[in-house]
Amino acid sequence: MSAAADHDRRYMRDESRPPPWCLMWLLLLVLRLVNWLQTAMLPPALRIADMAFGGHSMAEVVRTTAALGLADQLAQGPKTALALARDIGANAERLYRLLRFATAHGIFTASCPSDRQQGPETTFFCNNRLSACLREDHPNCQRHVILNCVGGQYLSGGWALLEWGVRTGGPIFEKAYGEPFFEHCKSHPHLEENFSKAMTDIDHSCGNSILQDYPWTRYQCYVDIAGAYGSFMADLLAMNPQSIGILFDQPHVISRAEAMWRDDPKRQAIAKRTSFASGDFFKPETLPCIKQAGSAWILRQICHDWPDQQVLQILKSVRAAMGAAKPPCTLCLVEMVILGAGSPTADYRDRVRTASDLQMMINHDGKERDAAQWAELLTKAGFQLKKIIPTRSLFSIVEAVPSTEL
Ligand SMILES: C[S@@+](CC[C@H](N)C(=O)[O-])C[C@H]1O[C@@H](n2cnc3c(N)ncnc32)[C@H](O)[C@@H]1O
Repeated sequence: MSAAADHDRRYMRDESRPPPWCLMWLLLLVLRLVNWLQTAMLPPALRIADMAFGGHSMAEVVRTTAALGLADQLAQGPKTALALARDIGANAERLYRLLRFATAHGIFTASCPSDRQQGPETTFFCNNRLSACLREDHPNCQRHVILNCVGGQYLSGGWALLEWGVRTGGPIFEKAYGEPFFEHCKSHPHLEENFSKAMTDIDHSCGNSILQDYPWTRYQCYVDIAGAYGSFMADLLAMNPQSIGILFDQPHVISRAEAMWRDDPKRQAIAKRTSFASGDFFKPETLPCIKQAGSAWILRQICHDWPDQQVLQILKSVRAAMGAAKPPCTLCLVEMVILGAGSPTADYRDRVRTASDLQMMINHDGKERDAAQWAELLTKAGFQLKKIIPTRSLFSIVEAVPSTEL
């Protein structure tokens, strides 16, 4: 077996499948213990400095590694910084220092013949489990979500204004770039494309727990509101061969989604059960009209992009469109339901959820919400919250039904 094939066998596996619930609880307990030990054993001044310096440089190194496509460059086997620099058109000495930092933090492995001095020409870098996740063709690829959320030319301006945002409560992205995020995406197609691919990366990291931990097959029709390129809907349709699906998003996103579905031979069978609709979820008259009874209206990671006032508008639009649809209709919000600060039941996923909350604050003036906030918004929009079903991923399903006649 060639080195590249052996590497692929070891590191290009789908590792996103969550463990069974009982093991999951045990894992969460162990991780809490490790976190407690770290806090208890490291000097507080060192730890807080490490969070400030290490956290910032780490994020930028991971983002730069993803932007330079280094993991893809190492797909065929180990290379020196000099060879990589030649391939991507970079400065070998600086690239070596970047890779040295990354390797010190467990991303990539490095080797050098014992009789040679380490350096850009002599040290060979190789992918490992972590760096392999930055490869475009990895089943758990995280490249686009990292490019979308961390630093970089277009997005670091928002984080630089975090202090301003906390002091004033103002819209941070707009202050930095002169327009809201989704408007900015329209005039910057590469940002829009990367954003939609980032959504697919999030799927790749959740394994199948969102699909497995909620009884999706009870529905005959899936209406994915703002479903981007439709990766989630494709999974639902594949899981439930009796169902149909309607993918709704903004016109420029839907035309790209249609092209992607057309060109993807793996989607041809389910494409027959799919229709595409475009519009604006603030305008209820542009939402699709559903003739099939038993529909799930899915808003996955949508409400967290918006402040309360706009979420109310979106939910009211969906409520109005449901009024014209054949009942029964169920609203399924797939969101990170957040816990209160210092909650005793918080686990490592709450670090990601609270980070996502800040990301939403910066990029969209949005937020992650807790159970009480969901109940209040849903009631105001004419829904009744039925239950919140946790999954083994970061996400829960917030299930609601129409509560009022229109
Ligand atoms: C965070 S993404 C979520 C995508 C998808 N639901 C998922 O989970 O992968 C937000 C989506 O909202 C869409 N969107 C933003 N503004 C919209 C609007 N006014 N009407 C319809 N869709 C909109 C974007 O195009 C984008 O696809």
